[in-house]
Amino acid sequence: MNSEISTRHPEKADFDRIVEVIDQWWGGPVQTSAHPIFFYELGERALVAEKEGRIVGFLLGFLSNSQVRTGYVHLVGIDPEFRRRGVGALLYGEFIETCREAGCKKMKAISTRGNEESVRFHAALGWDSKEVDDYAGPGRKRVVFSRDLSAEHVT
Ligand SMILES: CC(C)(COP(=O)(O)OP(=O)(O)OC[C@H]1O[C@@H](n2cnc3c(N)ncnc32)[C@H](O)[C@@H]1OP(=O)(O)O)[C@@H](O)C(=O)NCCC(=O)NCCS
Repeated sequence: MNSEISTRHPEKADFDRIVEVIDQWWGGPVQTSAHPIFFYELGERALVAEKEGRIVGFLLGFLSNSQVRTGYVHLVGIDPEFRRRGVGALLYGEFIETCREAGCKKMKAISTRGNEESVRFHAALGWDSKEVDDYAGPGRKRVVFSRDLSAEHVT
């Protein structure tokens, strides 16, 4: 199924497209999460998935050097018409691979409570999750996803 879908690093036009569609893809206002810093300053490892020139998914992520070198997924979104076709898994797989090559020992992402889609997606890809009280400030609980790369053997 993924044979028709390819990935590459986004250009400015792709970032513009992400900003245009993000609220619709999420079904709510999250446009501020696509802050331009994740393209200009932290976008070196960002990815888009496309089919015949159409952007069908994106992943904004970067490397963090705090304590353990960590690959951080800030935002991932798949066109609703292309969900459950492995596009999210494809983007995660590629991003994790570049993080691993860059020496990351861990992966991390967060989500708000109640995003069952996200919880199930991360669980299916072998990530751990836990709810952390006050993670994003007083009363702002978050689900923190993580995956330990150091324990994994790549064949
Ligand atoms: C979550 C999201 C990124 C998943 O992308 P996707 O391309 O549809 O996911 P995949 O097809 O790669 O799914 C891989 C596996 O994850 C699980 N999964 C994905 N979406 C799921 C859902 N809605 N319900 C249950 N399980 C789900 C399944 O096990 C799936 O494998 P399967 O289809 O063979 O059963 C996508 O639904 C999305 O963009 N949601 C809106 C934005 C969002 O919530 N982003 C995450 C914030 S951290």
